Amino acid sequence: ESGIITLDRGFKNTGSTSSAITFLDGEKGILRYRGYSIEDLAEKSSFIEVAYLLIYGELPSKEELSNFQNDIKHHTLVPENTNKILEGFPTTAHPMGVLSSLVTSLTAFYPESLNPNRPEEDVNLNIIRLLAKLPTFAAWAYKHQMGHPVNYPDNKFDYCSNFLQMMFRLPHQRYEEDPVIANALDKLLILHADHEQNCSTSTVRIVGSSHASLYSSISAGISALWGPLHGGANAAVIKMLENIKEDGGDTKKWMAKAKDKDDPFRLFGFGHRVYKNFDPRAKIIKKAADDVLNKLGVNDPVLEIAKGLEEVALNDEYFIERKLYPNVDFYSGIIYRALGIPENMFTVMFAIGRLPGWIAQWKEMRENGEPIGRPRQIYVGENLRPYVDVDKR
Ligand code: SDX
Repeated sequence: ESGIITLDRGFKNTGSTSSAITFLDGEKGILRYRGYSIEDLAEKSSFIEVAYLLIYGELPSKEELSNFQNDIKHHTLVPENTNKILEGFPTTAHPMGVLSSLVTSLTAFYPESLNPNRPEEDVNLNIIRLLAKLPTFAAWAYKHQMGHPVNYPDNKFDYCSNFLQMMFRLPHQRYEEDPVIANALDKLLILHADHEQNCSTSTVRIVGSSHASLYSSISAGISALWGPLHGGANAAVIKMLENIKEDGGDTKKWMAKAKDKDDPFRLFGFGHRVYKNFDPRAKIIKKAADDVLNKLGVNDPVLEIAKGLEEVALNDEYFIERKLYPNVDFYSGIIYRALGIPENMFTVMFAIGRLPGWIAQWKEMRENGEPIGRPRQIYVGENLRPYVDVDKR
């Protein structure tokens, strides 16, 4: 406002907003949603309860929780014509692209969402619809790439089991709920539910700040999450671990590659803009990976490689100096894989988890009447020069 522009590439030191949703202390490795520690929530809460907490600010009463769950169940069906949009995609389409397209297509089916000044109950309805329909779209994107017919939601199941049955039920078969799998998934979703002003959340806020609809704002967030430096890292980690395994499991050799400035390879699942000590989510997920694989009787050799890599990194001067630790994406893929979720769906799982956070941040931004997001720049191009006719160039 004073006319002086500060350049801060990647917004490393720029606060874009004030927020009452998520507290993060990167030096101490603390993460809290609305004042509740991530450790407590991951152990004691459920994803739907956490979604309510993030979006509405308080833990729900029994009745509020049950109404919220019922409202979501009521909206799990998606407009039938979205299946035609889905069918138009080649089966090779990446599910993240499919997901973001289907989400923004909701603006066409619910055009009232385009009105930025609509009443609060309308906004709430859009919020419920998104929470209800995203797992349906996600499972449909998977079925489509498999060349299978889609499964419809079955509301006798809870949020996670309903998603799992839409993913894995085969035609004419029943789906048997598996509490180990459903609980593992629920915990992962809680751990991904919000993370203050990360790249995708900042995207949701900035798109929403133009008063674009909630659906298109969330669709933009899904696109931002897709990149391998952000949510896409969870799939990149598994590829990396597989490569290390096939290469004979020499973690030190791959560490050397990651440190080599002439080699573009970086250790996926390592490093964080804010955490400079440890990522509390990675700690919980590492332990959960051991538990889940044990309970399911899965022996995945890449888990040992991941642990070995972490061990080497934590004792390596380059990584110590730069304060690089495993982040949320490092161990999550190993759990997804044990649950039968394929690699190109990992980032979709992150999106399902992050949805309540995106919604809460979008809602807070609108309620606080934030101005349109519009960073400045330092111009480094040509000075004024005369136009030259095309035949004289
Ligand atoms: C998520 O922001 C969030 O909150 C995100 C997230 C969320 O919940 O929303 O937590 C989810 O996106 C997790 C991050 C997933 N990405 C990866 O795992 C990809 C690998 N990591 C990085 O590329 C990197 O660490 C970032 C993108 C996560 C952070 O980037 P920064 O803050 O811009 O840091 P940087 O790239 O400038 O790194 C600082 C130094 C550099 O070395 P120098 O130039 O100082 O010598 O550390 C080095 C980097 O080269 N470095 C790495 C490295 N990460 C950073 N070197 C090797 N391997 C790595 N992974």
